[in-house]
Amino acid sequence: MKILIVGSGGREHALGWKLAQSPLVSELISAPGNPGLAELGRTVAIKADDARELAGFAMREQVGLVVIGPEVAAAAGLADSLAQVGVPCFGPSQAAAELESSKAFMKDFCGRHGIPTAGYKVFDDAIRAKAYLGDREPPFVIKADGLAGGKGVVIAETRRDADAAIDEILFLRKFGTAGQRIVIEDFLPGEEASFFALCDGDTAIPLIAAQDHKRAYDGDKGPNTGGMGAYSPAPVFTDKVRDQTMERIILPTLRGMKEEGRPFIGVLFAGLMITPDEPKLIEFNVRFGDPECQTLMRRLRSDLAPVLLAAAKGELALAPALEWDERPAVTVVYAAQGYPDDPLTGSVIRGLGEANAVQDVVVFHAGTRQDEDGTLRAAGGRVLNVTATGETLKDAVAKAYAAVNQIDWPGGFCRRDIAWRALAK
Ligand code: AMP
Ligand code: GLY
Repeated sequence: MKILIVGSGGREHALGWKLAQSPLVSELISAPGNPGLAELGRTVAIKADDARELAGFAMREQVGLVVIGPEVAAAAGLADSLAQVGVPCFGPSQAAAELESSKAFMKDFCGRHGIPTAGYKVFDDAIRAKAYLGDREPPFVIKADGLAGGKGVVIAETRRDADAAIDEILFLRKFGTAGQRIVIEDFLPGEEASFFALCDGDTAIPLIAAQDHKRAYDGDKGPNTGGMGAYSPAPVFTDKVRDQTMERIILPTLRGMKEEGRPFIGVLFAGLMITPDEPKLIEFNVRFGDPECQTLMRRLRSDLAPVLLAAAKGELALAPALEWDERPAVTVVYAAQGYPDDPLTGSVIRGLGEANAVQDVVVFHAGTRQDEDGTLRAAGGRVLNVTATGETLKDAVAKAYAAVNQIDWPGGFCRRDIAWRALAK
C-alpha cells in the first residue's frame, strides 16, 4: 500500500524511516516532508494543516494509510476529512484532538473521569487570575489554553513573573487566540516521563517510555523548548508505573472519550510527573513526542505499518505484540543558534554523510532545506536529530556525540548533557 505521512519534522522522518522498511509499503509519500523524507520517497507540497487538499490528494492517489504527525493536522480536522473520502487514517478526529488543543477541555475531562492530574482553574480575566494567585505559594504554573508549539507554559517563581505571564497571554495575546483563556495549575514536583499508547478507539497498546529535555541549555537551564534531546528507556518509568499509567490514565481516557462521542484513534502521549504515590498527568498530546518518537523508532523491532493500519481500522485487539530492542536509544537535537526565541535560518550544514557513517547512528532531518546544488541549510529551530543505539545508554550517548562532532555547522548548537539524569543513576 501507499502510505502518506503528514508533517515535516524529525518525528515524521523517523516514522518514514521505519515505515519504509515495511514489506507492506509500496510507496512512501510525505506532505510537505523534508530533505530526509525526500530520500525515502515522494514529497508533495501540501501543508500539514490543509485538510481538504490532503484528503483530495490521498483519495486520488489511492493511499492505503495516512499517518498524522503534528497536532496541527489533527486539530485542522484531517482525520475527519479522510473519513469522508474513505481513506484509513492513523490520527485523531478534530474533536478527539481537543485533548491537546484545549488544555481547559483536557483538565475538565480529567475531572469528569477521575484521572489524576494537578489541581487547576481556568480564567479569561486577568484581574481574577491574579486575585486567585493572591493566597497561593510559588512556583505558579500558567498555561495558554490552546496550541502554542510547546511554548505556552510558564513556571513562575515570583508573583511578579506570574502576573507578567498572565498579562502577556491574556492582554498582549502573545499566543494569539490560543491565549483567550489560561489555565493556572498546582505545581507538581517530581521527575517527568513521556509515555505513549497506540489507540483504536477501544483498545490501547502501550509503547515504551522516553524522557526528554525541555530546557534549551545544559543542566536543564534556559527557556522551555519542544525538546532538546530524548532517551529511552526511562529509568523512572518502572513496570509498576507503566501499569498504573495504563489503568488510571490511558484506559479511563479511552473509555471516557468514547462515552463522550469522541473516540480516540492514534497515539495518545501522556506527559507524566512521576510522584512518589502515583504518576500524574501533566498534559496529553495526540501525537508522537518529538524527539521522543525518534528514539522509539530506533528501538522498535516490529513492522510498524500493520499496527498503525490496525489502529486506523479499529482492529488493534487482533494485532501481534510489539517487539522492542533491549538496547537503549538516544536523540540529540541539533538546533539553530537563537532557538527557541529567534532561530537563525539559512546557514550551511556539512558533514551529514560522516555523521551517518558512525556505527549505530541515524541522523534525522527536522528543519532543513536543500538548494538545487545539494547544499543543505537550516530552515527551522530544531534542525537535525542525531540518534544512536548502544549496548548501554552511556555507549549510545557516546556514539551520538561522536556523530555530532562530525557535523560541520557553525550556525547550530546542541546540549552536551543529554541523558544526564539517567546516566547519574
Ligand atoms: P506542558 O506543555 O503542559 O507539557 O508543560 C511544559 C512543561 O512545563 C512540562 O513538561 C513540565 O516540565 C512543566 N509543567 C507543566 N505543568 C506543570 C505542573 N503542573 N507542575 C510542574 N511542572 C509543570
Ligand atoms: N517533546 C515533547 C513534545 O513533543 O511535546
